[in-house]
Amino acid sequence: MIFTKKKKSKKNISFLVSGRGSNFQALAEKVQKGYINADIKIVISDRGDAPVLKKAEMMGINSLFIDPKKFSSREAHEREILQILHDKETDLVVAAGYMRLLTPVFIEPFRNRIINIHPSLLPAFPGKDAQAQAIEHGVKIAGCTCHFIDEGTDTGPIIMQTAVDVTQEDTADTLSKKILVQEHKILCESVKLFCEEKIKIENRKVYII
Ligand code: GRF
Repeated sequence: MIFTKKKKSKKNISFLVSGRGSNFQALAEKVQKGYINADIKIVISDRGDAPVLKKAEMMGINSLFIDPKKFSSREAHEREILQILHDKETDLVVAAGYMRLLTPVFIEPFRNRIINIHPSLLPAFPGKDAQAQAIEHGVKIAGCTCHFIDEGTDTGPIIMQTAVDVTQEDTADTLSKKILVQEHKILCESVKLFCEEKIKIENRKVYII
């Protein structure tokens, strides 16, 4: 007897967020409107004062603060999160402004299933304060990148990028605002592609099928 792999109709998404949560909100709205066929299972934050916790509550989405200080190591903190993601039958993790580097303990079980949004045209300006780095460097074009997380800092396979012009008047703040509008778009589109099983990765290259 031949068993063919049946496509799952709906993916379960869980979020890791440290702060404001505008990317979370943009994506959650697309899910709630049915533009993305998925269920959002939970939002986990490493900060008890993260505004995203309130945002999630207002949208009727489960949220949880897991205090990293209560664990003896980064890995122990991640194991606790992994257990919850497993219990929620998570297919995709979206790191939307999650300010902690993930260790292999977390990455391995979710290989190519953790999407990150970063406010630069990678591989330029990885890490923190990417918009300020871009201004400082004097680039004329900046942008954002949606990619899968691997063990490096913002080095994983790139799903989508969008460019924005940098004017002479731009500051890190004005550039961040311009980029954020585009972040919301490419994060939603990338997650939609994932949920529709239209992403294939070969030799770190992402193909949209
Ligand atoms: C975004 O600029 C994102 O690219 C970066 O952190 C910021 C999070 O913003 N990783 P928000 O919390 O989604 O509003």
